Amino acid sequence: MGTEILSVAHYVPSNVLTNFDFEKIVETSDEWITERTGIKERRIAEPEVATSDLAKEAGLRAIKKAGLKSEDIDAIIVATATPDTYVVSTACHVQYKIGAKNAFAFDLWAACPGFIYGLKVAKGLIKSSGVKNVLLVGAETLTRFLDWEDRATCVLFGDGAGAVIVSNSDKKDKIIDVFLGADGSLKDLLIMPAGGTLTPFSPEVYEKRECFIKMKGREVFKNAVLRMQEAVDIILERNNIKPERIDYFVPHQANIRIIEALRERLRMPKEKVYVNIDRYGNTSAASIPIALSEMEEKGVLKKGNLVLLAAFGAGFTWGSALIEW
Ligand code: COA
Repeated sequence: MGTEILSVAHYVPSNVLTNFDFEKIVETSDEWITERTGIKERRIAEPEVATSDLAKEAGLRAIKKAGLKSEDIDAIIVATATPDTYVVSTACHVQYKIGAKNAFAFDLWAACPGFIYGLKVAKGLIKSSGVKNVLLVGAETLTRFLDWEDRATCVLFGDGAGAVIVSNSDKKDKIIDVFLGADGSLKDLLIMPAGGTLTPFSPEVYEKRECFIKMKGREVFKNAVLRMQEAVDIILERNNIKPERIDYFVPHQANIRIIEALRERLRMPKEKVYVNIDRYGNTSAASIPIALSEMEEKGVLKKGNLVLLAAFGAGFTWGSALIEW
């Protein structure tokens, strides 16, 4: 039995925060942010909007595009690092909101590569347990967990959601391969230290700003380039595919300089590498499905295209995937 992506869709909040807006919030400039990251603007969810609301919109669009109904969904996986609630998964919030009453539902926490981790899990579920249609959503409201006084992190992230329907098929496997990696020994380089069982929320925690995302940018940058290169090399080598055969490379959108480093290593022309970081910033687990959805909407992605995905994030976690569109 094979697996395939039946449809892809995305949803981002309408509220735009530009680099110029940031100049009024922290000591920064459009020039600094653009030069170091490639980001020009990002989307910010309204206060009453939760991660599941973004996921719901993207999910319903993906279900409709696939020609399915909510009742046809057997499993919902929400890849997110910014859940609605800690007890009750975001996936259960989504299941209720879209009326997918026949689906089991759970969250997958793997930070920015969460969507790639989700592809591996969705494929495994279909192959091993008779599941037919999986709604896989990458959804984040990261801006809720940012320290708006820390200019080195608050300018980097944005909110959004992207969703795919992964289904069984009687043809060859179109989710050709997924490679995953992790290294928990480097966890402190990119972490929200408090808010979990290790260090619950308290006024002291807030005072120390530990309930917000903290990052050692330089070290994260170096590790991101190394690990994503490794993930790309491994998946191409073990599938005996030369980079020239890839039609599109869709990297996690964290920093234009990381993307450029990977592009040069793969010796890929610019037109084969999808970039939208300028408009959304880093939307973590949502970044790759948002990119795929935009490519599909623009008619860039065509049936039969060979697509390479790669991502890196907190944990550290990383991964790559090869898909036939
Ligand atoms: N505006 C202006 N100056 C800023 C700034 C901002 N928004 N953020 C940091 N700076 C300053 C720093 O305070 C520092 O000043 P100093 O030299 O006076 O101390 C200077 O810029 C250089 O800081 P540094 O952190 O060394 O810059 P950098 O070149 O490494 O760029 C990042 C910072 C965050 C853009 C970069 O490290 C990065 O993108 N890292 C990876 C982040 C990432 O992808 N994370 C997610 C992975 S999924």
